[in-house]
Amino acid sequence: MILVTGGAGFIGSNFVLDWLAAADEPVVNLDALTYAGNLENLASLRDDPRHVFVRGDIGDGSLVAQLLHRYQPRAIVHFAAESHVDRSIHGPEDFIQTNIVGSFRLLEAARAYWRRLDDAGKAAFRFLHVSTDEVYGSLGKDDPAFAETNRYEPNSPYSASKAASDHLVRAYHHTYGLPVLTTNCSNNDGPYHCPDKLIPRIIHNARAEKLLPSYGDGQQIRDWLYVADHCSAIRRVLAAGRPGETYNIGGWNEKANLDVVHTLCAMLDELSPRADGRPYREQISFVADRPGHDRRYAIDAGKIERELGWKPAETFASGIRKTVRWYLDHQDWVANVTSGAYREWVGKQYGACS
Ligand code: NAD
Ligand code: TYD
Repeated sequence: MILVTGGAGFIGSNFVLDWLAAADEPVVNLDALTYAGNLENLASLRDDPRHVFVRGDIGDGSLVAQLLHRYQPRAIVHFAAESHVDRSIHGPEDFIQTNIVGSFRLLEAARAYWRRLDDAGKAAFRFLHVSTDEVYGSLGKDDPAFAETNRYEPNSPYSASKAASDHLVRAYHHTYGLPVLTTNCSNNDGPYHCPDKLIPRIIHNARAEKLLPSYGDGQQIRDWLYVADHCSAIRRVLAAGRPGETYNIGGWNEKANLDVVHTLCAMLDELSPRADGRPYREQISFVADRPGHDRRYAIDAGKIERELGWKPAETFASGIRKTVRWYLDHQDWVANVTSGAYREWVGKQYGACS
């Protein structure tokens, strides 16, 4: 069995669903169910004995210790985090608590558990830390893509807190010998993505006849990967990655934000046209830029391809089409997520644009 943290969030829930679709190894899923956690994502596992859901905080050391003792997992896959850059700008405290202090407490519990395993259990155990390309900072137009050897230059409270957790994970390997793996992935798109992020937000706003906010000039570049490809990369790193190593994960899909928004508008024109027959791109609105907005991210995924033989199955075009179709087919999910606390926050943050 494996212990997954943050398995009710966007990537974590996709990972749990993919994991149990591929094999019968059970999952204990520890998630605090913040605004970003949603048990509806896992509704298909409600009566599945292979999935044990525990609501709780990764920072609760005694709870984590109890879970490790009770379920004896062979690995921890650590997704739980505060993950939205805009939220980290407005309120960094939660990011420090969960991403840094929470990861530290999880590592402490993992270390205590691992120390007591027999030699074979110790050698087989893995702590896989899921991180982001944002720890490397921002690239200039002609800079080479981020390699694992790039210097860490985080620019937002979010990326700084993830960078701190990456350093702690590294230190637990070097100091205590804990068999850790770290993955640094580019931006994901796909099902169950909370609509405060770019792609689900544009799809949701377009259909709700709202403005499509493009920060600044819209020419910031992100490197996109379909979420199922991120999940397959994590499975591969867990199975064959070398302890102590880090692996960059990406789809070689650098796109300017405005191009992504235009692609989404064109797909929606085709799949779910506006009642008045006019193009969705008319709803695009340029709004104030994000403070300290990183200009460009790009991932060199050469190491994971060479060393572990992983490659993404989707192109940007095939992945984003699946994403758009999923949102069009799951409007109840979107309606539930966009009500309540999430809505209140969006109103405060984005006013008329939301
Ligand atoms: P998300 O915000 O959708 O989900 C985070 C999950 O963690 C939620 O279910 C939330 O309830 C849970 N959580 C938050 N604080 C917790 C705590 N203290 N204890 C237990 N659970 C807690 O995030 P995501 O987009 O799925 O990202 C998952 C991981 O992948 C994060 O570590 C993130 O940094 C990393 N990542 C994300 C992307 C991306 O494009 N979304 C890209 C690269 C890496
Ligand atoms: P986001 O999805 O928040 O991910 P991240 O900041 O982790 O890359 O944003 C992706 C890009 O889209 C980022 O450059 C900010 C921009 N953006 C907009 O232009 N409009 C929006 O409404 C949002 C949420 C993001």
